[in-house]
Amino acid sequence: MRLIKKLSGLLTVVSIFNVLSSCSANVKSANYSNDIKEIKIGVTLYKQDDAFISEISKNIEDIAKEKENQGKYKIIVNVADAKGNLINQSNQVDKFVAQNYDVICVNMVDRTAASMIIDKAKSANIPIVFFNREPVEEDMERWNKLYYVGADAQQSGEMQANIIINAYKKDNRMVDKNGDGKIQYVMLEGEQGHQDSLIRTEYCIKTITQNGIELEKLADDTANWQSAQATTKMSQWIKSFGDKIEVVFSNNDEMALGAINAINDANIGGKKPLVVGIDGLPKALEAVKNGSMIGTILNDSKKQANAIFNLAYTLASHGNVNSIDGLEKGKYIRTPHAEVTSDNVDLYIENK
Ligand code: GAL
Ligand code: CA
Repeated sequence: MRLIKKLSGLLTVVSIFNVLSSCSANVKSANYSNDIKEIKIGVTLYKQDDAFISEISKNIEDIAKEKENQGKYKIIVNVADAKGNLINQSNQVDKFVAQNYDVICVNMVDRTAASMIIDKAKSANIPIVFFNREPVEEDMERWNKLYYVGADAQQSGEMQANIIINAYKKDNRMVDKNGDGKIQYVMLEGEQGHQDSLIRTEYCIKTITQNGIELEKLADDTANWQSAQATTKMSQWIKSFGDKIEVVFSNNDEMALGAINAINDANIGGKKPLVVGIDGLPKALEAVKNGSMIGTILNDSKKQANAIFNLAYTLASHGNVNSIDGLEKGKYIRTPHAEVTSDNVDLYIENK
């Protein structure tokens, strides 16, 4: 009994000693941080294996390294992958809050569930830069330290339409292959409920019909931004409609490339449909170059990463956010798109 008492006394001393020594370690690091200030940026991605998202995240890390080399701050960018799961994402935000991050950049798993994340950050007074998956306006109004970086989805839909309109005007039989005066098309959509799927689809179709070109929808369905799902869908559609399909509109490049796999496997012969995507992924630029895609729309991951980083850096270093280029309504930055076809694709391949 006495021995146990003695031992536990010893343990107490040891643990007090531990606390003391860890205190002095903290003091040291605090002194040290007076010399080199540290900025901690937490990033949580809805899914790291999404090709476009991984481009943005890689660009953020590159920009941060460049900035760090300029010497003012040590910059830590910690990227977490939520793997499509909101609970993972919520835990990741909890961790960033507990570890006193200066700012959290959030690519929401479920863009309608932003309020829970906002509440956590707000109570710790840590600003949030949302990106790519836009919270609803009501959520963006919840606090004055919320920002959003993305692209104008309407513009990407309109530009996608332009590529087909221009091809039609140049040589209508290149698009309207059976010469019935209508474009028979299929539409591959991104995730349901994602602002980019809904708006891109709507404005792509609207723009074509407003230009006096008749459309006939053969089929449309979601393939959740994913190439493999698009291959499956497209194979089914080829079975149902054969060479009747004249155009494949795709809400993004990954699905467009998936559709091309199905087209190549199906041996449609000379009457292959035209395929148009959005994002400007390197693989899609190659496809435009070799003619298997008629075009894509550049969704500028570099500009978006720049905007995300600039906001995060300025917030973390207590700078003036309002001086940041392109900031609208004090909280939104939307980067412009560009049309890419065989005419100008080399320019974009060089810049990737
Ligand atoms: C879109 C992009 C898609 C996909 C999606 C994820 O803007 O075009 O390819 O990455 O975001 O939220
Ligand atoms: Ca036709």
